[in-house]
Amino acid sequence: MAGVRAILVVLLAAATAIGAFANDPDMLQDVCVADRTSGILMNGFSCKNMTMITPEDFFFAGISQPGQITNNILGSKVTGANVQDIPGLNTLGVSMARVDFAPYGLNPPHIHPRATEIIFVLQGELYVAFITTNNKLISKVVKTGEVFVFPRGLAHYQKNLSKYPTSVIAAFNSQLPGAQQFAAALFTSNPSVPNHVLAQTFNINEHKVEMIRDGLTPK
Ligand code: GLV
Ligand code: MN
Repeated sequence: MAGVRAILVVLLAAATAIGAFANDPDMLQDVCVADRTSGILMNGFSCKNMTMITPEDFFFAGISQPGQITNNILGSKVTGANVQDIPGLNTLGVSMARVDFAPYGLNPPHIHPRATEIIFVLQGELYVAFITTNNKLISKVVKTGEVFVFPRGLAHYQKNLSKYPTSVIAAFNSQLPGAQQFAAALFTSNPSVPNHVLAQTFNINEHKVEMIRDGLTPK
């Protein structure tokens, strides 16, 4: 009996530890600048030779200006500043993005599988929200200089309710947070999710599924 209890305690401790460290793994050296030329596949990227690292490995100017908004239906543009843009972020567990919104633009419902997100409103006013796993909507209007948090893995969106452009800087506790938009994942995946699955999921007929798919497919 004591043996079983000991095993349970060990399992519980292991589960707690896994939960506590369920973010990017910690670094084991000062820096590990991503070596994109390496053919070695691993969790994260292998390290560039220390003698070869430069200030440019830790620099990115790509979010200093508004991103080009080319999707007129959504009216928003996310510009990442993660390990794919800044090799020095490899193993550091953080990254950023900039999101620009046209008037009434929407950053549609999505999740980040590997990060909590915190946004700082650079200019304008945004209606923001996330949804808990109990389907409770937590929403707010946030203004210039204000901050809002989207917990890791929860569905969230941001919409500009005004006729003025708006932009935010987002920070993430992952070098590569990942993003999955629900509409795109369900209706534009390759290969496609079968129409009958989507029709049954949304309680609509397959013709409507085709209409939605058509509306979301880039022309
Ligand atoms: C905003 O939600 C973003 O993911 O950049
Ligand atoms: Mn997000």
